[in-house]
Amino acid sequence: MNKGLPIAPAKGKLGVLLVGLGAVSTTTIAGIMAVRKGIAKPIGSLTQMGTVRLGKRTEGRSPAISEFVPIAGLDDLVFGGWDIFEDDCYEAAVTAGVLEKQQLEQIKGELSAIKPWPAVFDRQYVKRLDGPNVKKGRSKKDLAEQVIDDIRKFKAAHGLDRLVMVWCGSTEVFMTESAAHQSVAAFEKALESSDPSIPSSMIYAYAAIKEGIPYANAAPNLSADIPALLELGQETGSPLAGKDLKTGQTLIKTIIAPGLKARLIGVEGWYSTNILGNRDGEVLDDPESFKTKEESKKSVLDYILQPNLYPDLYQDLCHVVRINYYPPRGDNKEGWDNIDLVGWLGYKMQLKINFLCRDSILAAPIVLDVALFLDLAKRAGLSGIQEWLSFYFKSPMHAPGLYPEHDLFIQLMKLKNTLRYMRGEELITHLGREYYD
Ligand SMILES: NC(=O)c1ccc[n+]([C@@H]2O[C@H](COP(=O)([O-])OP(=O)(O)OC[C@H]3O[C@@H](n4cnc5c(N)ncnc54)[C@H](O)[C@@H]3O)[C@@H](O)[C@H]2O)c1
Repeated sequence: MNKGLPIAPAKGKLGVLLVGLGAVSTTTIAGIMAVRKGIAKPIGSLTQMGTVRLGKRTEGRSPAISEFVPIAGLDDLVFGGWDIFEDDCYEAAVTAGVLEKQQLEQIKGELSAIKPWPAVFDRQYVKRLDGPNVKKGRSKKDLAEQVIDDIRKFKAAHGLDRLVMVWCGSTEVFMTESAAHQSVAAFEKALESSDPSIPSSMIYAYAAIKEGIPYANAAPNLSADIPALLELGQETGSPLAGKDLKTGQTLIKTIIAPGLKARLIGVEGWYSTNILGNRDGEVLDDPESFKTKEESKKSVLDYILQPNLYPDLYQDLCHVVRINYYPPRGDNKEGWDNIDLVGWLGYKMQLKINFLCRDSILAAPIVLDVALFLDLAKRAGLSGIQEWLSFYFKSPMHAPGLYPEHDLFIQLMKLKNTLRYMRGEELITHLGREYYD
C-alpha cells in the first residue's frame, strides 16, 4: 500500500524568479496580482481551479487540487527577475500590450516595484535583440556567480523560505548537445573558459540548480535539458521541467491528434501557419531562433500518431509549420491548420482550424502552475525531470531512451495520478470493473 510522500508544508514566502520580463512573465505577475486583489479569476490554472477525483466514482470525492496537496498560496508569492531592458514590470507589461492599461493601473504600485536586475545576455544567442541592462563579467563562471548573488540577496531582502526559477526569456538559436554539456565537471570547466556552447539560458539554469532551486524552461532552447545540468539537479535536489509552453496551435494539435488517432483516422498532411506581432514573433523571425521553435513544434505529431505502429495511416504524413512575424497583430496570434484526413477505404476529408488566440493569456496560468508544482515537488523530495509536468510543455523533458508523452489527456492523467501518489491515494486506472461485479 502506497502511504504517500512526506511533504513539507508550504510555510512562509515563495520567491518566483522570472528570467525575462516580457509578455509571458508580466502577464503572469500582473494576473496573479489581479487575482490576489479579487478583480479577476485565474482561468486556465489547474492549481487554482482544478479538482482531482479520489476513490470510486460512487464516493463523490473531488477536492480542489489546492486543498488536496499543500500548494503555496498566491499571497505568499514574491516576484523578482532579470531583463536586458531597464523597464520595471509595469512599464514592461504596458509595452507587451497584452493586458488592458486600465486593468494594469489597478495594480500599478505593486508592478512598478519590480525592477529587473541586469541580465546575462549575449547577442550571439538571440540575434534580433539588444538592450542596455546587461551584466559584465570576466567569464561565464563569473556571470553565473553574479546571478547566484542576485538570488541570495533577493532571498535575504524579502525573508523568503523557498525559490523557483522559470526561464521566460527569448528563444535562443538552435543548438545541440556538445562535449561541454556531458558532465558537471566538463560544464564547470567550460563556464570558466567561456565556451560558446554555453548560452545565457544555461548560465541562469546552472545558477538556480546549483542553489538547489527548481528550474523550468518556458522556451524551446536546450537550457537545463543537458546531461550536466540533470546530473547537477540530482546532486542538489532540484526538480526540473520544460521545454516550451504548450499554448496556442500546439495545444490544439495535442487535443485533436489523439482523437483522430483514437478512431484510426489517417492523416496525410498537417499544415500549420501562424501570424503574430509581439517581440517573441520578432525574435522568431530570425531563422536560427525559428529552427529551435520549429523542432519543438514538429516533434509532437510523430509521437502522438506513432507512424511506426500505424504505417498505413501516418507513414507519409507531411507536417509543415510556419510562423510569420506580422506586427499589427501584437500578442493576439492567429493560427490556421489545414489537416488532410483519410477515412474508410481511403476516402479523403479535410479539417480546418482557425484559432484566434492570445498567446500570453494561454501561457500565464501555465507559468503559475509550473512554479507552484515545482515548489511542491521540491518539498516532496522529488528531483530531476518531473515528467508529470509534461502536460504543460510542447517538448517535454524525458529520460534518455524514453519517448516523450505528448497526448494531453494521458499527460493530465499522469499529473493527477502523481498527485494521488504523493498523498497515498489509490491511482485511477479507469478500468471500472468493480461497478459491474
Ligand atoms: N507566449 C506564449 O504563449 C509562449 C508559448 C511557448 C513558449 N513561449 C516562449 O516563452 C518565451 C517568452 O515569451 P514572450 O512572449 O514573453 O517573449 P517576449 O519577447 O515578450 O519576452 C522575452 C523577454 O526576455 C528578455 N530576455 C531575452 N534574453 C534574456 C536574457 N538572456 N536574460 C534576461 N532577459 C532576457 C527580453 O528582453 C524580453 O523582455 C519565448 O522564448 C517564447 O518563445 C511563449
